[in-house]
Amino acid sequence: MKVGVFDSGLGGLTVVKSTLSTLKGAELYYIADTKHAPYGEKTKAQILSYSLDITRYFIEKHQIDALVVACNTATSAAIETLRKAYPDLIIVGTEPGIKPAIETTRSGKVGVLATPATLRGEKYQQLVDAHVGKREISLYEQACPGLVEQIEQGKTEDPETETMLRRWLEPMRKEGVDTIVLGCTHYPLVSNLIEKIMVHRLNLIHTGDAIAKRLLALAQEKGHQNEGTTKLHIYATGVIEEKSVVNLIGRKVPVSSVCVGE
Ligand code: DGL
Repeated sequence: MKVGVFDSGLGGLTVVKSTLSTLKGAELYYIADTKHAPYGEKTKAQILSYSLDITRYFIEKHQIDALVVACNTATSAAIETLRKAYPDLIIVGTEPGIKPAIETTRSGKVGVLATPATLRGEKYQQLVDAHVGKREISLYEQACPGLVEQIEQGKTEDPETETMLRRWLEPMRKEGVDTIVLGCTHYPLVSNLIEKIMVHRLNLIHTGDAIAKRLLALAQEKGHQNEGTTKLHIYATGVIEEKSVVNLIGRKVPVSSVCVGE
């Protein structure tokens, strides 16, 4: 089983980490499209074009059997087009965990942190419409422009990053939000800061494990045996903080440069 995984940068490695502990006997190819990060502040047409270029590259270069869009923003902008263009490819996307958040919250007050592009996308609205209304829920949606750049620069504990997060989270804390959806795969990297700011017990909802399980189930439907070791290859289209890669994966994995779509 050859699997292509991509995101705009480090964030998708949170999904890779879950996949490494779930999917056995596979080749994983990860592209961090750092040349075009942050996706969340680009137009839908731009994000779609990056996603199509990367998918084409994975298919031509690595003959992938499965694609994981390890990015909420790219899923929102591109997943439907990708599914139409590649009907035989297993395609797994990433969506903010609204459903598990609603099932977990006790106060009924749920915060959603995501990129500007994800929150203004139709897909997000459809997700909210499908799940909110099942019980009395107040959603506190917050776009976090600039946060992905801080994370890409390895500034996950910086005072500047804390100030940004405080501005967005203080109103949620005062309102009694007890569950926060990390609607961007980069945000688990600042979960320590989020927990510190929110003070009281907090449920943080991320989606890496759910994506890995879904990928395994679809792979097994196609006869994947799930035995043996999984190999990881990491590529970046631009600059990447290699120290953060080591921290995320837990060991040193070489990062190669790649040119996609030109
Ligand atoms: N990690 C991505 C997401 O899940 C994209 C972040 C960005 O590049 O803005 O939305």
